[in-house]
Order: sequence, then structure tokens, then C-alpha cells
Amino acid sequence: MAHFSGRDLIYVLMLCSAVWFLIMFVQLESCRGGINDHQPSSLVTYRKALAAKEKEIKYLREHADSLNRRQHVVGLPTIYIITPTYTRPVQKAELTRLSTVFHSISNVHWIVVEDSDVKSNLVVDFLKDCELNTTHLLSVTPPDVKLREKDPNWLKPRGVLQRNTGLAWLRSNLNADFNHGVVYFADDDNTYSVKLFAEMRDTKKVSVWPVGLVGKLRYESPLIEAGKVIGWHTYWFRNERPFAMDMAGFAVNLHVILENSLAKFDINAKRGFQESVFLQALGITLEDLEPKASMCTKVLVWHTRTEPANLSNEEKMEMKGYKKSDSHVEV
Ligand code: UGA
Ligand code: MN
Repeated sequence: MAHFSGRDLIYVLMLCSAVWFLIMFVQLESCRGGINDHQPSSLVTYRKALAAKEKEIKYLREHADSLNRRQHVVGLPTIYIITPTYTRPVQKAELTRLSTVFHSISNVHWIVVEDSDVKSNLVVDFLKDCELNTTHLLSVTPPDVKLREKDPNWLKPRGVLQRNTGLAWLRSNLNADFNHGVVYFADDDNTYSVKLFAEMRDTKKVSVWPVGLVGKLRYESPLIEAGKVIGWHTYWFRNERPFAMDMAGFAVNLHVILENSLAKFDINAKRGFQESVFLQALGITLEDLEPKASMCTKVLVWHTRTEPANLSNEEKMEMKGYKKSDSHVEV
């Protein structure tokens, strides 16, 4: 049996401490990532983080429309919404209703076109405050084609020149190489479900769906057979109108609009033919139409019309010696 002297024991202890220090040093360096041999492991960590981010982006793209909250999602087609609007007592209420819905949609660009030759303070301030991506344009309807307050509403078309101004803006500000999306004409008094925008997001050429409470029917709708549009459920000019639907019943891919730069609405078109004039100018046929909303069986937009506000008691207030409503309070 070997004999260990006290000195041998000290040597062994010193050796053990040296090995222990070496181990500690190696561990410390690997934590700091300072040793070359550990470089690949940090690369692995980066790759994992990148893959997780890519997975998150993919999830957001696929679920953006069901997340029910507004956010910008990279690579998701933008929905360009063109809204004609004009000054009247209910205007701010209408715009507020619309903006509340648009807040729940990702990647939306709201193009508001005022029927006026000057921007109104109400719309300027409203758009500044509404926290949406907006563009404010002007296009005044000349008096000879403008519907007056007492005229029957079939007499003159509305919103036509404003929609054309919106189209002109798209064509001079967007480029098919960089901008991808879909264009929708949303009048300021209709009622829109958030779900409608999810339906139109992937429009290839032109997508279509039913519109509720229009044409003196419960709803109007494209008629579908074997997944294709074969005609129209409508009473009004059923066989005369090539695209017998309301303005709220379709959306167009942005590239189709950019590629057909002359297509627009026509202020002189026969009443009810605006949609047909525009879609024909885009070179669209029935065959091109993409039925949405569960093959046109669901109503996700309603052609509601807001009753004009009756403010007749304002004058009576004055006659009784009461103070009228404060004109500084914006309604
Ligand atoms: C129906 C259709 O749904 C409209 O798409 C179509 O433009 C209209 O008929 C027509 O015949 O021209 P309706 O409810 O009768 O709609 O029309 P409005 O909602 O009164 O007007 C359509 C849009 O034009 C609205 O966004 C409205 O704010 C705007 N508008 C109306 C103007 O910009 N200027 C006006 O003087 C009146
Ligand atoms: Mn309307």
C-alpha cells in the first residue's frame, strides 16, 4: 500500500483546485459567449428566435381578420375604403359609426371624399382624431347634377364624382409593384359588419355578396349555381342591368383598378347602372365574380338610410325666449 506524505496531500489538493478553477472558467466564458467554440450555439438561439417570429407573423397574417383588433400586419393586403360624404346634421354620427367598425380591421386605408370645394373643419378634426390611416380629398358636385333637399332621391345620382376622385388618388399614389389590396366603396350611411372585410381581403378580381334592406327587398344578392354567379336576386331592372347589385355589394382588387386606368363612374349613367358601367369598364364578366359570405347566403352589409335630423325646435326655443343650442358645440 502506497504511503502519502502531507506534501503529496497538498499537491493533490492544489491539483483539484486548479481543475475546479478551470471548470468554473470554462462555464463562465460559455455564459458570456466569449469562446469561439460556443458561437454556433448562439447562432442556434438566433435561428430559433427568428423561426418563432416568422411563426408569429404567419399566424397574424392568417388570423388578422378574426383577431378583432386593429394592427398593421406585414404582407397582409390593404383594404382601401372610399367614402363619399357631405355636410348635414347627421354627418359626424355617420362617420363615427363607420370609424368604430374600421377600428376593428387590420391594414385599412380610409379615403374620405367630401362633396365640397373646401375641407370642412368637422371632417378635418374628425379624421385627425379618429386614429385610422386616412386620406381626406375634395370633389364638389356641380349644382346642375346635385340632388336638392326636396328632390325625390331617384332624380340624381350621389357620390359619383367623389368615388372617381378616390379612384384618381389611388392611381396617382399607388404602384402595383409595391401596393397590394382591395378597393371598396362604402357610403357613409350603410351598416357594415367587421366580418365583411375579412371576406373581401383576398379578392382576386371582383368579389360579390348580398346587401340587406335594399331595392325594396329584404336583401338583394347574386344568384349562385355550382359556385358561380349566374344572375341576380333583385326586382329592379333585373334583366337590364349587367351587374344588378348595389355599390355596397362588391370589392375590386387594387391591381385591376390600376391596370384599367380609365375605368370610372359616370354621372350621366342611367340610375342603377353605376355599378355596371364601372365593372364593364374594368373588363369584368360574370365569370370573373367571386361569391363571398358563404356563397352569398349571409348578409354582412345593410343599405340603411339615416333619417334627416329634425331640428325644428331650435327656432321655437328662440321664440319662447329660451337659449338655442350652443353653436360652438359640434354635433
Ligand atoms: C343608393 C346607393 O346605395 C348609392 O351607392 C348610390 O350612390 C345612390 O343610391 C345613387 O343613386 O346615387 P342612397 O342611400 O340613395 O344610395 O344614397 P346616399 O347614401 O344618400 O348617397 C350615397 C353617398 O354619396 C353617401 O356616402 C353620401 O354621403 C354621398 N353624398 C350624398 C354626397 O357625397 N353628396 C350628396 O349631395 C349626397
Ligand atoms: Mn345611402
